[in-house]
Amino acid sequence: MNRARLREVAASAPGRVNLLGEHTDYNDGFVLPTALPQRTTVHVSLSPDDRHHAHSDAIGEVHEFGLDDPLHGFARYVGGCLRVLRDTGRVTPPLRFSIESEVPVGAGLSSSAALEVAVLRAVDALLGLDLDPVEIARLAQRAEIHHAGVACGIMDQMACSLAQEGTALFLDTRSLERRLIELPTQTELVVVHSGVPRRLSDSAYNERRSECAAACAALGVTSLRDVNEVAQLSALPPLLQRRARHVVTENARVLAALTADATGFGEAMNQSHASLRDDYQVSVPALDELAARLRAQPGSYGARLTGAGFGGCCVALVERGAATRIADAVAASPGFGGSIIVPDRR
Ligand code: GLA
Repeated sequence: MNRARLREVAASAPGRVNLLGEHTDYNDGFVLPTALPQRTTVHVSLSPDDRHHAHSDAIGEVHEFGLDDPLHGFARYVGGCLRVLRDTGRVTPPLRFSIESEVPVGAGLSSSAALEVAVLRAVDALLGLDLDPVEIARLAQRAEIHHAGVACGIMDQMACSLAQEGTALFLDTRSLERRLIELPTQTELVVVHSGVPRRLSDSAYNERRSECAAACAALGVTSLRDVNEVAQLSALPPLLQRRARHVVTENARVLAALTADATGFGEAMNQSHASLRDDYQVSVPALDELAARLRAQPGSYGARLTGAGFGGCCVALVERGAATRIADAVAASPGFGGSIIVPDRR
């Protein structure tokens, strides 16, 4: 601990954009996110007193708290991580955190998972906890569920902990088996904000989870991952059938995309958007319009909403070198927000 007292440690984690496999992670399914160039960096040192302190200039919040105090704002993520560490027997001394983030907040790009993973990495580095990346993701997910109030799956935290820029992380959320996948050659990604902010805890996210659970109960399966054929869903009431059909077809799209060329990958993205819009009903008109505009640009292979939906961003797979032009063409439209380019660095 004396050594820790002398130093300040910094650690970071990237935001993520999910390319395919939406609303599949809490159904034990497959996902395919990649890391964004934008990162959240956390500086941590021992607190000068017996309280935890956290501040972020970007968010404009300063917090001071004891671990059992009610937590507010971004302290829910920081304090939440410390609480889940304590739950596993790792009691931390009072700490001082300073946070910088380039990951847009409320955009569906996992700013909260990036913060949680960066906090856990920083505390691990300061105190020598010897956490591995999967454990970090699991702890971060627990912090999100229990202390930020979002009953999320494991995709975001695994992506922020294990994905790398320039490849996609193919993850089986049931076994956590994973591998890094090359994106189709000569392509890059563009992520554009719809201008509609989304707040996961305010959305119908938990309702969708319940609908999937109801579909499983009616089908007599543990999870929708265990359904391989859409025909198996025919006995379900219409609404549950649509919800389950999205999950079953989305899992198939992820698997197909692993070996697809740019055209096939883009087509899978387009189909994913249609399924999220029509069957899962998590799109909003601004996302539909943005995805259509992205698709219509020369050099675009396909586009879809990314993240939980109800606002936030669309992601498009485009020809190498076309992303900036496409982002400018689309993001310059009135009502559309900012954009992020994920260039092909191969
Ligand atoms: C949010 C959740 C994830 C996942 C996506 C939808 O990002 O945090 O666990 O369920 O929505 O794919």
